[in-house]
Amino acid sequence: MEGSLVIDQNARVDQIDPRIYGSFIEHLGRAVYTGIYQPGHPSADAEGFRQDVIDLVNRLGVPIIRYPGGNFVSGFNWEDSVGPKAQRPKRLDLAWQTVETNEFGLHEFVNWSKKVNSQVMMAVNLGTRGADEARRLVEYCNFPGGTALSDWRKQNGAAQPFNIKTWCLGNEMDGPWQIGHKTATEYGRLANETAKVMKWVDPSIETIACGSASLEMPTYGSWESTVLAEAYDNVDYLSLHRYYNNKDGNTANFLAQAQDFDLFIDGVIAICDAVQATKHSKKQIDLSLDEWNVWYHSNDADTHNQPWQIAPHLLEDKYDFQDALLVGTLLISLMKHADRVKIACLAQLVNVIAPIFTDENGGAWAQSIFFPFMQASQYGRGVALTPIQSSATYATNQFETVPYLDSIAVLDEAAHVATIFAVNRSQDQPLALTVTNAAGTFDKVLLATQFAGYAVDQTNEDGQMALAKNASAQISSEQLTATLQPLSWNVIRVQ
Ligand code: AHR
Repeated sequence: MEGSLVIDQNARVDQIDPRIYGSFIEHLGRAVYTGIYQPGHPSADAEGFRQDVIDLVNRLGVPIIRYPGGNFVSGFNWEDSVGPKAQRPKRLDLAWQTVETNEFGLHEFVNWSKKVNSQVMMAVNLGTRGADEARRLVEYCNFPGGTALSDWRKQNGAAQPFNIKTWCLGNEMDGPWQIGHKTATEYGRLANETAKVMKWVDPSIETIACGSASLEMPTYGSWESTVLAEAYDNVDYLSLHRYYNNKDGNTANFLAQAQDFDLFIDGVIAICDAVQATKHSKKQIDLSLDEWNVWYHSNDADTHNQPWQIAPHLLEDKYDFQDALLVGTLLISLMKHADRVKIACLAQLVNVIAPIFTDENGGAWAQSIFFPFMQASQYGRGVALTPIQSSATYATNQFETVPYLDSIAVLDEAAHVATIFAVNRSQDQPLALTVTNAAGTFDKVLLATQFAGYAVDQTNEDGQMALAKNASAQISSEQLTATLQPLSWNVIRVQ
C-alpha cells in the first residue's frame, strides 16, 4: 500500500501552543499518594517527591498540569490543603468515596510542578462553593503580599506569589455525577461571576469554562451555547473531555476514533463561533481539551473497590499497544487543530489512567502510551502544517472512510526542520510513504523512529517496549521515502 504527504510551508494550521502537551494530576487513587508523593520511598527527595517519577515526567515534557481535579475539586476546600501538615484535616472525598488526608496540598503541588518544569493549571470548586472561595484562592496564590490571604501564603512558606495563570471554573458541571451538578444557566451565571471577580484580583489570569463532559451528554450543544451566552466576556477557553474504549475488541474501529475526536472539536468550535457571531464580539473563544485519553481497562476492577480508603488502586488502566497507536492519532488530531485547541491535558499523568505507573514497593515505569506522547511533546513544537495526504481507506461500523495513513508535519522554522508524525492503521499491510517538499528538496533525514511490532494487546509491564530506528527512511529523487510497518507510530525528522 502507498501513501503520500506534501510538506507545504504555506499551508499552515497555526503555531502549536505547547500547552496541548499538558496533563492532569487529580487527588484520585494513587495519582498523588504513592504516585508523585511517597515519603519513605527509596527515590523520595526531602519533600517526599518520588525522583523516579519526576525523571519520567521530565522525559515526557509536560508544560502544564491541571490540579487538583476532576470530580474531586467539586467537594474540595482548598484551605484544608495549606498550613502545617499535622493540622490539616482528613476529609471524606465524596467524588471517589475515599479519604483525603490533605498531607499533600497546594504548596506541595506548586513545588513539585517546578521540579517537572511545568505550569500549574488550577481548578476552583464550583460544585459546593462559589465566587468568594475562588477569588480568595486567587488572592492567596497570586497577590504579592500585604493582605490577610497573601500573608497567610507567606506564613505557610511561600514568600513569592505562585503566579498561576490558567484557571478552570469547576469541573464537568453538566454531569449528574458531579457534586453540585448545575443546569447550564445556573453554571453559566456562576462561572461568569466567579471569573469576573477572580480577574479583578489578578487581571493577568485566563479562565476556562466547563463545556460538555462528553459528546454523548444529552445537553451537548445547548450546554455550550448557554454557558457561553452567560459567561462570554469573562472566559477565555471552553473545555471538552473525551475518553475512548475498545470494549468490543474492534481494533479497526478503535483506531479510527480520531475521526470522532475531530468531529467533537469541530462541533465545539462551531458553537463557540456561533455565540461569537450572535454577540457581535471580536473575542474568539479557544478550546481546552483538558481531559482526553483511553479509559476502560480498569472499569471492572473499580466496581469492587471498598469505600473510604486512603489512596486505593483506582482507574489503574494498563495500556496496550493499540492504545498507544490511538493516543498517537489523537495527538495528531490536536496538532491539526492548533489554531483553536490551545490547551489539552492527557488524563491523567501518574497511576490513574496514566502514561506513568508506580509500584508503591518498587520502581516507576512507562506505559505504552508514554512513547507517542513523549515524542509529540518533544518534536511537535512549531507550526502545524495542514496535512495534504492521501492513502487507501477502510470502513468501520462507525466511520465510512478511514485513511490507513494518519499524518501531519510540524515545522521548526528556526532550525529548518520538519517533523512528520504518521500512523499506519493497517493491521497487515506496510505503507510505502512518499513525502514531498512543496518548496523544493530535502537535504537529510535527521531521525527516523518507529513504535511497531507488538501485539495489539501487549502492555509494557515487563519494560520491553521501546522506540526503534526506522532504517528505511531515506531521501531519494528529492523526496523522502519510508516504509511504515503495519500498526505503527512513526516520527521522521527531515531537513
Ligand atoms: O479523569 C477522571 C475523571 O474523569 C475526572 O475526575 C472527571 O472530570 C472525569 O469524569
